[in-house]
Amino acid sequence: MRFRGSVAIDLGTVNTLVWVTGRGIVLEEPTAIAIDTAVGKVAAVGAEADALADKEPQDIQVIHPLRDGVIADLDATAAMLHAFLRRTRRFSLMRRDALVCVPSGATPVERRSIIAALGVRRPRYNVRLIDEPVAAAAGAGFDLSGGAGGFVVDIGGGTTEVAAVAGWRVVRSHSLRKAGNAMDDAIVQAVRNELGLIISQRAARGLKMTLGVTGGAEGYAEAVGLDVAQRTPRSEFVPGGLVASALEPIVAAIAGTVHEMLSEIPAGLAEDVVRGKVRLSGGGALLPGLAGRIESAAGIGTVVVEDPLRCVVRGAAEILERKDAKQQPDVPGLRSLPRAPTPAAASRSRPAPGRPSASRPPLPRSACRPR
Ligand SMILES: Nc1ncnc2c1ncn2[C@@H]1O[C@H](COP(=O)(O)OP(=O)(O)OP(=O)(O)O)[C@@H](O)[C@H]1O
Ligand SMILES: [Mg+2]
Repeated sequence: MRFRGSVAIDLGTVNTLVWVTGRGIVLEEPTAIAIDTAVGKVAAVGAEADALADKEPQDIQVIHPLRDGVIADLDATAAMLHAFLRRTRRFSLMRRDALVCVPSGATPVERRSIIAALGVRRPRYNVRLIDEPVAAAAGAGFDLSGGAGGFVVDIGGGTTEVAAVAGWRVVRSHSLRKAGNAMDDAIVQAVRNELGLIISQRAARGLKMTLGVTGGAEGYAEAVGLDVAQRTPRSEFVPGGLVASALEPIVAAIAGTVHEMLSEIPAGLAEDVVRGKVRLSGGGALLPGLAGRIESAAGIGTVVVEDPLRCVVRGAAEILERKDAKQQPDVPGLRSLPRAPTPAAASRSRPAPGRPSASRPPLPRSACRPR
């Protein structure tokens, strides 16, 4: 039996994605809600709310209700989620299943708050949680059935999850509270200190995406902000080197954590990890130069998964689709478990040319690079 209308939700610090059984990804919006404080009502959610951030319109408070991958404002999260889910729901009286991804380092209180956010208003959901690295690994194309494993690094907005996964379970994981948002903050600070220019988070994000740790194709990018002394708008060409040095401590922390985690995996998982390579997911995986830095630290091949921003929700969807299987291996957070992939799920998880393969390729002779 297919659970039509069941939802998989990647409730991220920066982006929220919703997948519905039988329909695919139906919503991708910034994790944001705008409240009209004059009347105490929701003014906007998602992209519309996020567009008002930093602009301070009268009587409007823009809230990004998640911090570091977990709920920081329960009421705002519940209101935002229900607005999103109302948009995706077709009329039905059935109580739906919702599978929601949580960072592996989330505390029991943080996990319960996600269940509460989906339980306080109608329509209510039967909520189950799945560890984000397991969903990321499934979305990254690893076939975790039969005890197989892999190594995945999900670099989101609030957290970087570094994890070894096997048989639908986390083997070792580390949740680093340094990711895309911390990179933006570091760039805002550096541009203010070095160039005397106050830029928005949005402008910093643009510099990060263009210049990354490599300095970009041109070696600089334009940013507009307010002059620190005059408080008037001005534009400036920001050198790539300035952005690269601002990002360096965060990139070094991520690469260092990958190296550390690789030195902690059980020997039995080493072959799976080398064959499958380190797979990077999440929006931060697109940072120019990051994959190269992680590959140097890891000493093994490192690849960015196909469509990294949708990797986690795709993986959660695959797990949700498998939950009515006859053979049900144990997946943490789920009462019932995966079956063999449906043809649709199998084709979705099939890597694109040049991407990592879910099936076992021969072990490359140069898989372990000299360190
Ligand atoms: N091309 C790019 N280069 C660098 N960073 C990028 C790029 N595209 C998106 N990002 C960053 O990726 C982050 C968002 O990624 P993602 O949607 O995976 O995070 P999230 O799931 O909301 O956060 P988390 O998983 O930490 O809760 C943002 O910080 C965004 O600036
Ligand atoms: Mg995420």
